[in-house]
Amino acid sequence: MKFDPSTMEHPDIYKVLSGVVVPRPIAWVSTFGPDGVPNVAPYSFFQPITPSPPHISFSAGSRDGQKKDTERNIEETGDFVVNIVNADIARRMAISALDFAPEQDEFEATGLTIEPSDVVSAPRVAEAPANLECQVRQMIPIGDERYGATLIIGEVVQFHVRDDLVLEQGRIDFKTLDAVGRLAGDWYCSTSEQYELPRARYQRELSDWFE
Ligand SMILES: Cc1cc2nc3c(=O)[nH]c(=O)nc-3n(C[C@H](O)[C@H](O)[C@H](O)COP(=O)(O)O)c2cc1C
Repeated sequence: MKFDPSTMEHPDIYKVLSGVVVPRPIAWVSTFGPDGVPNVAPYSFFQPITPSPPHISFSAGSRDGQKKDTERNIEETGDFVVNIVNADIARRMAISALDFAPEQDEFEATGLTIEPSDVVSAPRVAEAPANLECQVRQMIPIGDERYGATLIIGEVVQFHVRDDLVLEQGRIDFKTLDAVGRLAGDWYCSTSEQYELPRARYQRELSDWFE
């Protein structure tokens, strides 16, 4: 089948886009509101951009034409933390996507512990196996106010990775990290099953592969 987005309604386009771009990593973004209320919410339109200096991006859509709390907090404070989600905390991540009022402490509501950051003002989720402290660099509106989103680009100014996940030579033990990926709707996946696909080093190896 073919889908022409110019003839489709927003929810139907969303279903196709988020159904084929899977699995998506999850940025569990924690911020402080201008009044100091802690906020945490998941964003799966998320990706790393470049490692040096490290930048990541995620996009925040609107809710009833209004900016979400995460976007507003980043606009106000300039800081946020991306917390990595594993199976132990996945349930709390899903709960934190509820539409809490801005004055509600979402750490308290989801039973999470606040850990102060080293560089940025935003709080970290203590239970997360890794945290990326970020300072916002660009906020780029995409599309219209009703259905569009803001692409939020942040520079990672401090990484935190649980000690047991750091292997020799600074490699990360992604098997033990077991980050949760988002599929469509309420479906998620784990990264507990992996396979290795060696990269071809010379063109002559290709003929062996396709035998
Ligand atoms: C796994 C998951 C991924 C999500 N990804 C996004 C996303 O990429 N963009 C977005 O605008 N909302 C996303 N949401 C919805 C937000 O988390 C939800 O609107 C939340 O209430 C926003 O909270 P906030 O107002 O505190 O920022 C996602 C929800 C879940 C459960």
